[in-house]
Amino acid sequence: MKKRVAIVGVTGIVGQEFVHALNEHPWFEVTQIAASERNAGKTYKQAVSSDPSGIIAWDGSGQIPKYVADMVIRTTDELDTSEIDLVFSAVESEAARDIETKLAADVPVISTSSAYRYESDVPILIPGINDDHADLLDIQSKNRGWRGWVAPLPNCTTTGLAITLKPLVKEHGANKVVMTSMQALSGAGRSPGVSAMTIMDNIEPYIPNEEKKVRIETRKILGTLRDGKIEDADIRVSCTCTRVPVIDGHTETVLVNTKKEVDAESASRAYADYDKNVSVAGLPSAPEKYIALHKDPMRPQPRIERDVGDGMTTTIGRLEKDEIFGNGIKYVLFSHNKKMGSAKGAVLLAESLYKRGKL
Ligand SMILES: NC(=O)c1ccc[n+]([C@@H]2O[C@H](COP(=O)([O-])OP(=O)(O)OC[C@H]3O[C@@H](n4cnc5c(N)ncnc54)[C@H](OP(=O)(O)O)[C@@H]3O)[C@@H](O)[C@H]2O)c1
Repeated sequence: MKKRVAIVGVTGIVGQEFVHALNEHPWFEVTQIAASERNAGKTYKQAVSSDPSGIIAWDGSGQIPKYVADMVIRTTDELDTSEIDLVFSAVESEAARDIETKLAADVPVISTSSAYRYESDVPILIPGINDDHADLLDIQSKNRGWRGWVAPLPNCTTTGLAITLKPLVKEHGANKVVMTSMQALSGAGRSPGVSAMTIMDNIEPYIPNEEKKVRIETRKILGTLRDGKIEDADIRVSCTCTRVPVIDGHTETVLVNTKKEVDAESASRAYADYDKNVSVAGLPSAPEKYIALHKDPMRPQPRIERDVGDGMTTTIGRLEKDEIFGNGIKYVLFSHNKKMGSAKGAVLLAESLYKRGKL
């Protein structure tokens, strides 16, 4: 029998990706959906159709999957947790705090929000990168007297950075990382989102709260779980996060000061070895290649990479030795914010936890 799942925030940008990622899923079946009071009581089809101003909330590619079109949206208070095995939560962090606290008392919650990311008994999980941190979920349930737990993914900008750092750190160690992001519009969500007048023909040099999140989360994800606590990785991270007029997919330039000597060849080997043995291989939502490397200096580009591996492949190009801070390597990465960076990445996490007996 499939695990029964609920999607909270089902009308938003990430919620709609969840609708796609769970369509005909072999292990999970969406049985309940929730959004704000504004949409409660409507069918999904009604909620994402055009309003009188002509704005269509449906942002997913293609048609609305049949299984969800006539499902009625509930408020989160109306969710029946006795009939759910897992919740996928995709609401902004302020609302998420109360919602996830209430739901996790009864049932496991996988979240794309930042509401719980920085608590000491909460891991920030990327399937295939820090799977062992999932053991903290049992401690979290026990600490809080919950039947469930909250397992957050990182911010979508941290995802690509942490994935591409992990193989390098494993083989060469790292002291410092400098990153500049060029983030897609969809990463800002719909409420309030980014206005076309602001972003067309433009670049916004600042995204509120983003850089701090990337700095903290990267160290936690690459840290070590010891005696029931995560010790942050001893890596200094500096980043500049910008918004660019790209619809989907974040591009980042990265410079890593490594502990050991590194060049493009040894870094490529580290990536290829990691990719060959990645733990998520074979799971329903895993791509054929978890990390794709390109020698062509014109890759990665959002328009080309975003469909590779259905948005689940992290792409690296421009890998070059750079010794400005001592041993070091620089590269450009691409990571899909709505797929690996949120909804489909969350489904991959659920698959990985299910396989490890955590669900
Ligand atoms: N966008 C991305 O690429 C991305 C990537 C990674 C992580 N995230 C994180 O994922 C979360 C969702 O982001 P998003 O981009 O999908 O935002 P969004 O497009 O603004 O959608 C927000 C969703 O939350 C629902 N909601 C708001 N208040 C609620 C409440 N009190 N109770 C129940 N539902 C409520 C909204 O419902 P209504 O439509 O009914 O108002 C909508 O479905 C955020 O925490 C964001 O930081 C986003």
